[in-house]
Amino acid sequence: MEVIIKPDYEAMSKAAALVVAEILNTKPNAVLGMATGSSPLGVYKELVRLHNDEGLDFSQVTTFNLDEYVGLSIKHSQSYHHFMHENFFRHVNIPSQNIYIPSGTTKNYQAFCQWYEQRIEQCGGIDVQLLGIGSDGHIAFNEPTSSLSSRTRLKTLAKQTIDDNARFFDRREDVPTYAITMGVGTILESRKIVLLASGENKAEVVAASIEGPITSMITASALQLHPSTLFYADEQAASKLKMREYYDWIQEKKPGAPPI
Ligand code: F6R
Repeated sequence: MEVIIKPDYEAMSKAAALVVAEILNTKPNAVLGMATGSSPLGVYKELVRLHNDEGLDFSQVTTFNLDEYVGLSIKHSQSYHHFMHENFFRHVNIPSQNIYIPSGTTKNYQAFCQWYEQRIEQCGGIDVQLLGIGSDGHIAFNEPTSSLSSRTRLKTLAKQTIDDNARFFDRREDVPTYAITMGVGTILESRKIVLLASGENKAEVVAASIEGPITSMITASALQLHPSTLFYADEQAASKLKMREYYDWIQEKKPGAPPI
């Protein structure tokens, strides 16, 4: 895992967007794994800017989103379908048939989840997966005690997550109780992972996931098993890391490292 600490949200978002852009430059038909919430918004903004100003092309790209709330129609203002359309898809040139987001309204969740896993595989697997981290340490909606080899499935949201996400809804009671989410095992199969963490309320789980034991109590800690994860944090989110000096030292010495 490479831990990269940036002074603020904007610097972190731009650096992460550049990683995605570089992958697209070498592989124009890359498969991108998308996340929602506050964390990736800056990345989407920068990717849209690169598309508009520098011609970054998404015409051959395929995308798979991590998760969706159960029970919200795709038109609901807080559905992840709506979020992705508003914040990213409507601004770039990804063919609509190449966009996959879990269904929150299917009649058969088990069959849908199996199909979703199959589609990821048939499309060649995810080249780069964007992730945020919940204040309970979740990645996607893999709440504490989720199996670290879990696949796409229906999950009951933790009360902590419902509290955190209530800020997007009129009332706390409006936050859905269930979600459909890629599993930790699904996420770990992505060839590259780019996680973004910002703000002081993430500091504890950031430190636990990077420097603590691998545990299903903090599903982000499973990323320690992944061979190519870039863990971006801003100053506040990085404030509880014990090995901070070492992470900065690695970044400082990177230009002089022998080529691998
Ligand atoms: C969203 C997702 C979640 C969020 C996490 C952090 O698709 O999978 O794991 O990344 O809850 O949310 P924010 O970024 O809003 O703090």
